Amino acid sequence: MSLLLAVDGAVVEFQARKGLLGSVPVRALDGVSLRLDRGETLALVGESGSGKTTLARVCLRLQEPTRGRVSFDGQDITHWTAKRLQQFRRRSQGIFQDPFSSLDTNMTVGQIVEEPLVIHGLRDGRQEAVYKALEEVKLTPPQEMAAKFPHMLSGGQRQRVAIARALVLQPELVVADEPVSMVDASSRAEILYLLRELQERHGTAFLYITHDIATAYHFSQRIAVMYLGRIVETGATREVIGNPLHPYTQALLKAVPEPDPDNRLRRRAVVEGEPPSPAHPPSGCHFHPRCPYTFERCPVQAPPLLEVRPGHWAACHLWPGADVAARLGEKPQKG
Ligand SMILES: Nc1ncnc2c1ncn2[C@@H]1O[C@H](COP(=O)(O)OP(=O)(O)OP(=O)(O)O)[C@@H](O)[C@H]1O
Ligand SMILES: [Mg+2]
Repeated sequence: MSLLLAVDGAVVEFQARKGLLGSVPVRALDGVSLRLDRGETLALVGESGSGKTTLARVCLRLQEPTRGRVSFDGQDITHWTAKRLQQFRRRSQGIFQDPFSSLDTNMTVGQIVEEPLVIHGLRDGRQEAVYKALEEVKLTPPQEMAAKFPHMLSGGQRQRVAIARALVLQPELVVADEPVSMVDASSRAEILYLLRELQERHGTAFLYITHDIATAYHFSQRIAVMYLGRIVETGATREVIGNPLHPYTQALLKAVPEPDPDNRLRRRAVVEGEPPSPAHPPSGCHFHPRCPYTFERCPVQAPPLLEVRPGHWAACHLWPGADVAARLGEKPQKG
């Protein structure tokens, strides 16, 4: 397998408005690194506000990181201008959460799916490519579906249009940010199954973002768990879910999904304790105020992400490897 996307030590800071008093800095990403090989699926899970969408936007270079590096196919694209990013835009695509606001309601389905081909100046065989993409997402017969407008479609059908639009350029990288969380429950599994089928058929590298660690299990080869702007655990999906090392991952797996009062179609796993505010992150390990195993070191020092078992990394002071690294880090420097 060869490396397609690499993010190294990405930090993203926003200035969040705070009433009339001005703004406070919010660190949405706090030194995140990840790697994605060609054809690989990586799931990114974590609670609301953990920085998943920000990381998705950094991977698609829709957001330039405050610090750190983004490379695609061996090229450092961190500071590329819009013009230089054009080729990258053709090779990478995003699928976002809201199929209601992400489609232009004045365009037909056919025009929506065709638009990326137009933008990138691809003239030949456009109509066939559009019909093929619609067929692939099972919007059939494609000629009939192409003539419809978004308001004539269900949420699930709209998300299929968004998927067809993302895949029509045959991208090497797809970032899907909670692609089914706003789709009705009956079409959710179907759409996930379809995404997986398309990912396998085309060998696309896939970053799949979700609140729901259970769907991550079915969708990904590797998983990364985020908490307040940091990756706290990562490894092969079976290994992480079968043998979670970080107390936060353990809590996510134990949490019972419950109906979201704002949206009955959405289920959210709830971890005990208050989710912290990224504007005022806890000291040391960000998870320590909610962690059942907190001890003296946790509020004092942020644990490094270490390989605790082969290919399985965790950032937690409970693990012996972490303990050794922390002690080494505590040694006073000479000179
Ligand atoms: N443009 C912005 N300006 C200011 N703050 C922002 C901006 N975008 C994100 N944030 C803040 O950064 C943090 C991370 O947000 P992000 O949307 O990446 O989280 P998320 O994990 O995708 O959450 P959700 O599950 O709710 O989608 C949040 O505290 C959010 O309020
Ligand atoms: Mg998000």
